[in-house]
This record gives sequence, structure tokens and C-alpha cells, in this order.
Amino acid sequence: MSIKVYAFYNNKGGVGKTTLCSNASILYAENNPEAQILVIDMCPQANIYQFLLGGGKKGYENNQNL
Ligand SMILES: Nc1ncnc2c1ncn2[C@@H]1O[C@H](COP(=O)(O)OP(=O)(O)OP(=O)(O)O)[C@@H](O)[C@H]1O
Ligand SMILES: [Mg+2]
Repeated sequence: MSIKVYAFYNNKGGVGKTTLCSNASILYAENNPEAQILVIDMCPQANIYQFLLGGGKKGYENNQNL
């Protein structure tokens, strides 16, 4: 079993790290339905989970509940 690790990093804020990581991980999942994918948000806001837990108000509430 091989494990691929991708990091989305930039010291500057608001440059699209979360958006790019979210889109890339979702597209990877679509193209690799058998793969197990773990997304770890190292930002204290952890707002990538808003995208991955439904997006918008629903995603925000699900993230807050966690
Ligand atoms: N390719 C793009 N074109 C236009 N707008 C974009 C693009 N990528 C991201 N954005 C917008 O830019 C803003 C910042 O994006 P995002 O939250 O992904 O950045 P970030 O680097 O994760 O920010 P932070 O440092 O606050 O975590 C958001 O409003 C997002 O919708
Ligand atoms: Mg971010």
C-alpha cells in the first residue's frame, strides 16, 4: 500500500489554500472512489470542514457541532 501526501501551504492569508485543497481532495475522491482520503486542516479555524461537511450554513453548523 502506498500513501500519497499533499500539502497546501502558503504563509500569506487568503490566497486560496482552503479552496484549492477542498476542490483537489473532492476531485481526487471522485476520480478514485476506492481510495480512503484523509483531509487534515492545520488551521485553527479548521474551515475546510465547512466545505467537506455540506458547505454554507449547514457545513458551518456541522463544523461547529464537531
Ligand atoms: N481561484 C480563485 N479565484 C477567485 N477567488 C478565489 C479563488 N480561490 C479562492 N478564492 C476566494 O478567495 C478567498 C480566500 O480563499 P481561501 O479561504 O481558500 O484562502 P486561504 O488561503 O485558505 O485563507 P486563510 O489564510 O484565511 O485560511 C475566498 O473568498 C475564496 O472564495
Ligand atoms: Mg484557509
